[in-house]
Amino acid sequence: MAKVKVKTGYVCSDCGATYPKWQGHCSACDAWSTIKEVRLGAEPRAGRRDGFAGATSAVTLLGEVSCTEEARFSSGSEEFDRVLGGGFVPGSVILIGGDPGAGKSTILLQTMCHAASSKEVLYVSGEESLQQIAGRARRLQLPLDRVKMLAESSVERVLEAAESERPEVVVIDSIQVMQSAGIDAAPGGVSQVRESAAAFTCYAKTSGVVLIMVGHVTKDQSLAGPMTLSHMVDTQVMLSSTEDARYRLMRTTKNRFGPVNELGVFAMTERGLREVKNPSAIFLSRTENAAPGSLISVLWEGTRPLLVEIQSLVVSAQYGSPRRLGIGLDQNRIAMILAVITKHGGLVLSDQDVFVNVVGGIRVLETSADLAVALAIVSSFRNSVLPQDLLVFGEVGLSGEIRPVSNGESRLKEGVKHGFTRAIVPKGNAPKKEIAGMKVVGVNSLAEALDAI
Ligand code: TYD
Ligand code: MG
Repeated sequence: MAKVKVKTGYVCSDCGATYPKWQGHCSACDAWSTIKEVRLGAEPRAGRRDGFAGATSAVTLLGEVSCTEEARFSSGSEEFDRVLGGGFVPGSVILIGGDPGAGKSTILLQTMCHAASSKEVLYVSGEESLQQIAGRARRLQLPLDRVKMLAESSVERVLEAAESERPEVVVIDSIQVMQSAGIDAAPGGVSQVRESAAAFTCYAKTSGVVLIMVGHVTKDQSLAGPMTLSHMVDTQVMLSSTEDARYRLMRTTKNRFGPVNELGVFAMTERGLREVKNPSAIFLSRTENAAPGSLISVLWEGTRPLLVEIQSLVVSAQYGSPRRLGIGLDQNRIAMILAVITKHGGLVLSDQDVFVNVVGGIRVLETSADLAVALAIVSSFRNSVLPQDLLVFGEVGLSGEIRPVSNGESRLKEGVKHGFTRAIVPKGNAPKKEIAGMKVVGVNSLAEALDAI
């Protein structure tokens, strides 16, 4: 009997780079001890291509490609639709990542039960039993009669079922438990995840179904499995929990069919995930007595404002070099703001430990909180309390200038709605017409801002 030649390769479990020989260090992503021997499929299976984007055809002129406006359809949840950029695009592959308990299965179960009223839905669960899922759906009082369920972890059998059922939306919960017969490796490993995801992606692109894969994340918040997974999918959505676990935040980190800056907010209740339609003030907790170092800023998340509390603590460093720590903020940004405060604000912070925290587990991704961070640091350093009805936003530049940010007037109006009566903002953002109920001070430089407090 002819011996089947088994092809093996060495693959980095972090970035998916392949090597002909084992080595301790991955030269592609600089990680150590991540390269493992994997058994590759004996033959590349017909029709399987990584990140394959549709049926192959001859070379065509771009202008001659006929295209129909992609008909998006709703996921059944307004917040989810907003994060996706307006609903599901047929033939797209969506990856939903998040910690265990983030609510990935819950949000998918809820939306799929509603989407099933107008679309054929197949929900494949490899983690929970159908009894568990049905129990949860009943408890959440979801319409259950139209969702097709399958408890399966074999890629081939899932695809077989999909061929015969012809669904329009397929959910794979989760990609880490899927197993392809052609690959001789444990589920959850690099090669299994990659092969399974590639097979599902190819299926979605050729059949036009919306394919949603659930993916677990590792401790450092990156998706478990090969990085190629992110390259393969069209949209990557991350679900995370706030510090007090009451809210769930949904953000896209990659989107081929829409913007990536939208934030979806849900509240986790005993009746499942509820949409928070107006989340602008959910992270504010007003206390009776204001403390030094605390200040409210307003971020712009996609299309909506979000009020956040910035807290800072400046204490003299006890030993060694002073510590600079930011939670919810970029570390480099804090270092830069400290340098600007030293140079242009005339404060000496070189012997101080500086801690900055964004309350509520929010991550600040834009520069508009710079000025609030700077003033919060100064407020803590001077041990002076800032007024509780003060709102601050603006970008800090290296020469101490305060630059305007987008949507200035809308940010101010949101502040008025929540009872703020004064604001320190970049001069460029100061409204030409006075906003009723709000005294706005426009500043050009950090020195001017320090004079204003
Ligand atoms: P789940 O969707 O199972 O998380 P994942 O699939 O991302 O691992 O969510 C489980 C968590 O959500 C769990 O901590 C309990 C909580 N939960 C509620 O608080 N209320 C509910 O109605 C449901 C269904 C879950
Ligand atoms: Mg789950």
